[in-house]
Amino acid sequence: MSVDIKKYLEEKQQLVDGYLEANLPPIGTPPTVLHESIRYSLLAGGKRIRPILTVAAAESIGPPPKALLPVACAFEFIHTYSLIHDDLPAMDNDDFRRGKPTNHKVYGDGMAILAGDGLQTMAFEWCSRVDLVNDIEPYVQVQIIAELAHGSGNQGMVGGQVLDIQAENTKVDFAEIQNIHAHKTGKLIRAAVRAGALLSGANLTQFDQLTAYAEDIGLAFQIADDVLNVTGTREELGKDANTDAERGKQTYPSFYGLKGAKKLAQECADRAISRLSSFDEKADPLRGIAQYIVSRRN
Ligand code: IPE
Ligand code: IPE
Ligand code: MG
Ligand code: MG
Repeated sequence: MSVDIKKYLEEKQQLVDGYLEANLPPIGTPPTVLHESIRYSLLAGGKRIRPILTVAAAESIGPPPKALLPVACAFEFIHTYSLIHDDLPAMDNDDFRRGKPTNHKVYGDGMAILAGDGLQTMAFEWCSRVDLVNDIEPYVQVQIIAELAHGSGNQGMVGGQVLDIQAENTKVDFAEIQNIHAHKTGKLIRAAVRAGALLSGANLTQFDQLTAYAEDIGLAFQIADDVLNVTGTREELGKDANTDAERGKQTYPSFYGLKGAKKLAQECADRAISRLSSFDEKADPLRGIAQYIVSRRN
């Protein structure tokens, strides 16, 4: 593989962060506290894996249009909103995220809910603003917006969060765990990759192969998250560790043990990479990301 994945991820993270800084409502935009609360969570760090996947998927096909970055950032908006809401007392009731107190700990539950709501709508705004997105076909743009909606919504991330809450302290089987993960984490990752493919005009075969890649890494990503919840520390993760066990959540390690879960994650990553066998070296970042996802420490 011809790509230094650590360097690639750092570069793309900076690209995404720079675009966010340049285009977000500036500090002081009324309502001031809402924008402060949004910036607090959004700019707290974060690996930016979803927007980077949009970028890498687009680049695996060919040179992307300028619409790439606003669309990529839209996935980070949805993701950050999902984290703010996921941490609320009514959901996971967590105190730390991205190395800082959670949004509601600082701004209160009401403002945290509204910051999440604001981020969610901003995602759709950025994908449809003519000053940001003006060099793709309108039909492609609508398809991208549909991907964003589907990946985020009732049959995507939100649907998965519902299943996740329902499964707490109940006995669920392995197929059900897999289904929860495929929705709460997998669907947004899948949409981020598919949006990248659409931006660069992937043909149907490429689109299907990238979709299969995304489904495999989505699963690998959540298995790794479950493993890190057991093995990581607050310092490494930027969020509290061992919370799944405390909350009686069944996870991959609780089914397969740590070793088994890690092996499964690696198998998913290997399968993801094999989906790209007909892609050239432009897909090396995607291959590197698949491996990074299972070997990451945070
Ligand atoms: C954490 O996501 C929550 C899951 C969906 C598993 P990330 O691990 O991508 O979190 P950040 O964006 O880097 O903070
Ligand atoms: C987060 O899942 C998934 C979403 C926010 C959609 P978890 O609740 O398992 O992840 P962490 O451990 O809080 O990051
Ligand atoms: Mg949760
Ligand atoms: Mg959580």
